[in-house]
Amino acid sequence: MRRAKITIVGAGNVGATTAHWCAAAELGDVVLVDIPQTEDMPKGKALDLMQASPIVGFDSNIIGATDYEPTRGSDVVVITAGIPRKPGMSRDDLLSTNAKIVSAVAEQVKETSPDSVIIVVSNPLDAMVQQAQKVSGFPPSRVIGQAGVLDTARYRAFLAMELGVSVEDVSALLLGGHGDTMVPMPSCTSVGGIPVTRLISEERLAEIVDRTRKGGAEIVGLLKTGSAYYAPAAAVAQMVEAIVRDKKRLIPCAAYCDKEYGVGGYYVGVPVILGSNGVEKIIELELTEQEQADFKKSVDAVHELVSTMNELMGQ
Ligand code: NAI
Ligand code: 2OP
Repeated sequence: MRRAKITIVGAGNVGATTAHWCAAAELGDVVLVDIPQTEDMPKGKALDLMQASPIVGFDSNIIGATDYEPTRGSDVVVITAGIPRKPGMSRDDLLSTNAKIVSAVAEQVKETSPDSVIIVVSNPLDAMVQQAQKVSGFPPSRVIGQAGVLDTARYRAFLAMELGVSVEDVSALLLGGHGDTMVPMPSCTSVGGIPVTRLISEERLAEIVDRTRKGGAEIVGLLKTGSAYYAPAAAVAQMVEAIVRDKKRLIPCAAYCDKEYGVGGYYVGVPVILGSNGVEKIIELELTEQEQADFKKSVDAVHELVSTMNELMGQ
């Protein structure tokens, strides 16, 4: 059977850790790409990972590169290129620098892997994924953003910590943009099949939701020199697996919504079925009045972010 080819652009914390998860799970062969100014760094990380393979026992080839020739014909391209958020810096501060970086990467992907599915990770996520779709010209179903899997995992982890139960028993969903306006869905949160609202008071749940919303900033505040990468990389690897193994996972991703949820042509976090063709279906849920109001607020924030990006980019 032909192995999938997975390109990861940006060999920094998220990119290299994603390569690690993907290789260890034998999702395919991995090409790790960074800019020429990094000298041989991606080659060094790739070789280091290759040398872990006999110990861990995985059959994946990992190579590093500072150009796109080795990436040609990839099935999945993950874009983590950019600068991470530093303490005190909002996601929006990253907007103009990362929009230029993501545009340059998307141009290269369009040329070298025209049939790939692109997963965008670079922040601010909801604008970067829109930019990658615009520049690549790929069908929107083949350009998706990672945020919801991570945000939901944070929420699930906090709930499991609170209740003293296995994370495996916590099932949850978050909608909206990757930002402070993300929309938790208590109506879609359960623990071992029991609605969460029967296990936690409304006040405590609100505190957990608030911690989830600020989950990225909490890690930035602790690390001080960068942002989270273990959980983000694990989230990306789950999406890569859904695509290369055509798993039809029902997970939240930043997907292009036009008529869906009345979004009108923007990327926003919604539940999708993810398979080898990328987003195969957007699942539309009926929202409660409160959820609808929160979702609108989140979509408005995405509109504003994309407008600012378009202004900054003169497009
Ligand atoms: P990092 O600084 O460790 O790595 C970024 C890498 O991108 C660097 O090695 C840099 O040389 C490279 N790069 C810059 N321009 C490039 C270009 N034109 N082509 C190829 N590579 C290029 O940063 P980290 O922690 O890996 O984060 C990467 C991005 O992912 C940031 O924008 C961060 O905010 C975002 N992020 C998003 C998350 C999400 O849930 N969507 C979660 C965590 C991080
Ligand atoms: C996070 O949520 C920085 O977006 C990144 O950790």
